[in-house]
Amino acid sequence: MTQNPSPLLELQNISIVPKKAADRLLVNNVSFSIEAGKTTCVVGESGSGKSLTALSVMGLLSKQLQLISGKVLFNHAGQVQDLTTLDAESLRKIRGHKIGMIFQEPMTSLNPVLTVGYQIGESLTTHLGLKGERLKTKIASLLEMVGIPPSRANSYPDELSGGQRQRVMIAMSIACEPLLLIADEPTTALDVTVQAQILKLLDELKTRMNMGMLFITHDFGVVADIADNVVVMFRGEIVESGTKTQVLNNPQHPYTQALLACVPDAEGKKPLKPIDYAWLPENQTPAGVIA
Ligand SMILES: Nc1ncnc2c1ncn2[C@@H]1O[C@H](COP(=O)(O)OP(=O)(O)O)[C@@H](O)[C@H]1O
Ligand SMILES: [Mg+2]
Repeated sequence: MTQNPSPLLELQNISIVPKKAADRLLVNNVSFSIEAGKTTCVVGESGSGKSLTALSVMGLLSKQLQLISGKVLFNHAGQVQDLTTLDAESLRKIRGHKIGMIFQEPMTSLNPVLTVGYQIGESLTTHLGLKGERLKTKIASLLEMVGIPPSRANSYPDELSGGQRQRVMIAMSIACEPLLLIADEPTTALDVTVQAQILKLLDELKTRMNMGMLFITHDFGVVADIADNVVVMFRGEIVESGTKTQVLNNPQHPYTQALLACVPDAEGKKPLKPIDYAWLPENQTPAGVIA
């Protein structure tokens, strides 16, 4: 009998509370996994706990918050390690090396006074010790990989378009060939055409590098484009998960059905049908959902 190999990343029973309000579960018992070479999309409306879940993987929760339960099992270098048990120094070695990250706002994550080439090179020097010509060559090949002319290495972030800055962020995040890429709404600030290009690029890189991807979005259109597996979050909890086909074609939970009913059709029209929240406890209507 062949043994079922461990997934690349497995979150087990993650719960997060504010330190000052320990009974307020911002993330409640969240479990899911990511396979190498596959994308798991975490989808849900704003405030549902998606970003906190991602930050907990990297040990980057703010000091006001506390992880009160859970494991983050990361399968690398032939062993499975619980990242929640690592000290700050060990986590720093994994971040930006084995696990890459990209966020929504490239302008706030890029340093305006350093060239993009320098910024792409930083993690290559820190984690892999690359210097001189080898470093230059690697930076050029990374820029090429994300579709930016290598001559742009000497440009500053404000000399690039929004889409190019996000490409630079992608180059930085994949520089050390991470096993896992965490992307938190990386295309939300971009216009639709550029968003489609960036999604295509991430999908290609995932396949080429056999990376696992944790992709966070509030947009089911993006899920349809990029997901292999889908986790639907609502108010800090997973209400449904499965393969993309299962969740998009045959949603089981009323919340998923309601969100999917809001996705514009091919002509960009939203159906007029209001969301039915009758399934919610005490019949509360969640704020922020387009009904
Ligand atoms: N530092 C914090 N202190 C208290 N509450 C927080 C803090 N950070 C986030 N939250 C709350 O946690 C919930 C989940 O946030 P988040 O994970 O950012 O949601 P999402 O990414 O799905 O929009 C939200 O209600 C948010 O207000
Ligand atoms: Mg978020």
